[in-house]
Amino acid sequence: MKLKHSLLVAGIVAALSQTVAANDNLAGLHADMLGCDACHSASMQPQDDNLSIENGNCADCHGDIHEVAELTASAHVNVHASHFPGEPACTSCHQAHQPSVNYCDACHSFDFDLPFAGKWQRHEPSIAELAKEQADRSAALALAPRATTDIVVVGSGGAGFSAAVAAHDAGAKVILIEKEPVIGGNAKLAAGGMNAAESASQAALGIKDDVEIMIKDTMKGGYDKNDPALVDVLAQNSAGSVAWLTAMGADLKDVGRMGGASVNRSHRPTGGAGVGAHVVQVLLDNAVERNIDMRLNTRAVEILKDDNGAVRGLLVKGAHTGYYWISAKSVILATGGFAKNNDRVAALDPKLKGFMATNHPGATGDGLDVAANADAAMRDLQYIQAHPTHSVKGGVMITEAVRGNGAILVNREGQRFVNEITTRDRAAAAILQQSQGSAFLVFDHAVRKSLKKIEGYVELGIVPVADDLVALGAKAGIDGAALSQTINSYNGYVAEGKDAQFERQNLPRPLTQGPFYALEVTPAVHHTMGGIAIDASTAVQGTDGKAIAGLYAAGEVTGGVHGANRLGGNAISDIVTFGRVAGEQAAKYIGK
Ligand code: FAD
Ligand code: FUM
Repeated sequence: MKLKHSLLVAGIVAALSQTVAANDNLAGLHADMLGCDACHSASMQPQDDNLSIENGNCADCHGDIHEVAELTASAHVNVHASHFPGEPACTSCHQAHQPSVNYCDACHSFDFDLPFAGKWQRHEPSIAELAKEQADRSAALALAPRATTDIVVVGSGGAGFSAAVAAHDAGAKVILIEKEPVIGGNAKLAAGGMNAAESASQAALGIKDDVEIMIKDTMKGGYDKNDPALVDVLAQNSAGSVAWLTAMGADLKDVGRMGGASVNRSHRPTGGAGVGAHVVQVLLDNAVERNIDMRLNTRAVEILKDDNGAVRGLLVKGAHTGYYWISAKSVILATGGFAKNNDRVAALDPKLKGFMATNHPGATGDGLDVAANADAAMRDLQYIQAHPTHSVKGGVMITEAVRGNGAILVNREGQRFVNEITTRDRAAAAILQQSQGSAFLVFDHAVRKSLKKIEGYVELGIVPVADDLVALGAKAGIDGAALSQTINSYNGYVAEGKDAQFERQNLPRPLTQGPFYALEVTPAVHHTMGGIAIDASTAVQGTDGKAIAGLYAAGEVTGGVHGANRLGGNAISDIVTFGRVAGEQAAKYIGK
């Protein structure tokens, strides 16, 4: 079975391409060449929803994803070297009995060919639609539980992983489930940073901050619709959460500015790499070290309660093994938001109908339905945020940190039109008022060098570049002469330390070092501020005003932390802090 990897480069790739073209799938090729047991176990049935045996067999022959990435390094974009943490399973894209798809297409829209590119599409039945599968569900519930544990954590984003690690460290036995074939949810996409006040990283950089200022910024950004008790937990624990992650191996030493913050408090890896993939990788490594049972392709569909209304387990649907239930005294919902579900978004905020989204495909709002069916109360669902800078080409969210590190926003007429680091609701509204509803992030080479994340955008080929501003204008479709004047004035404000035009607070550097870059951006649905009502201990509040015994929730699935508008960098802080609290509280509830 150990074909050497070089085989993949030579004969196999050619044969694969031909056979895939002929058969539309990989299973036929493998069966013809090697027999079905090249992939499957003797029973021919998947043993688990991670497809551990099948994926193990892929890796035995072809190498793990890092080895395969070396082989595909010459591709225009090396999909096997993606930004995903962990080792995404081969079957995430190569589904064998159906045409392969590019999971990347779930978010992006690049204008280059990707190998084995069946068109990404998905119809995921809603939780309400699944409720019609009554016979299968009843049959599963009539059987003994397939697994027994203390706590089930639902969702493998930052909130879920933090909860799982914290609960484990408090002495609880934990199963973590995830409905997607890959881990990390929206958390793995987080770019600009994690907000924290009075952290060691700030102190090392001589940044003076105060928990009270973080509270004020957060309440002001949220138009005072936030729950002050939750904001207090967020800010008071923010530096502790950075320290918790650092102790587990994270590098959060770079500190920059995000919109709506009075001081630099957005923590990210040295050099300005994306914060989310790093944080999820650290949490994953720690979950693996602790031997936490992680089940992908496994969807939570119903919380099970006993006669007293306390949690007794969870009904799940495995994508490959079907319905089964897990016996558990506590469930933590960490299922994230619903920005990718435009029907749900538009029903709550009709002006966002048809908007693109920055989110991963699993951000559909399942957790809200599962919780509502368990009689949980909801709050603030109408508050939905658009991120101002989603690239028109390729569909990539361009981090606010690009502006924080010095980029300006101009329209087609070459004029600035807003304070670039205002709150994102204001920036998004201002962009939509410009001609064609889009604008350009303009920056120079010094800004590019200040933030590693920008290298990724340039590599994707979505950033027009030119040696001077007039040529840049011609390339990008901006009035170049006006752009040159605008940049001159802006550089004057930087020299004076005062933005006479829009009172931008941070003016980190002049835009003087060519080459120059202009990236067209438009707003896209980004964050859902509302969700399940929780108290400061993350206990889920029932519609009767009492906590539901054994049910906890953390992260973007909850409401109240961010009020009507979230500040950039506050979500990663939210999910790590409240995830930890949920894990500790659930462990305490079960007597650990
Ligand atoms: P997620 O990370 O979304 O995880 C939830 C998981 O639950 C998902 O994997 C989902 O598939 C799974 N799930 C859902 N339903 C079910 C079910 N029924 N059964 C099983 N599993 C289920 N915030 C910042 O603070 N700083 C940033 O720099 C930043 N950048 C961002 C960039 C992008 C492109 C995006 C989209 C968001 C960004 N955010 C940022 C916001 C932040 O990433 C999210 O708010 C946060 O990660 C949400 O974390 P979470 O753990 O609550 O949910
Ligand atoms: O722009 C960004 O990096 C996104 C940050 C956030 O959503 O907090």
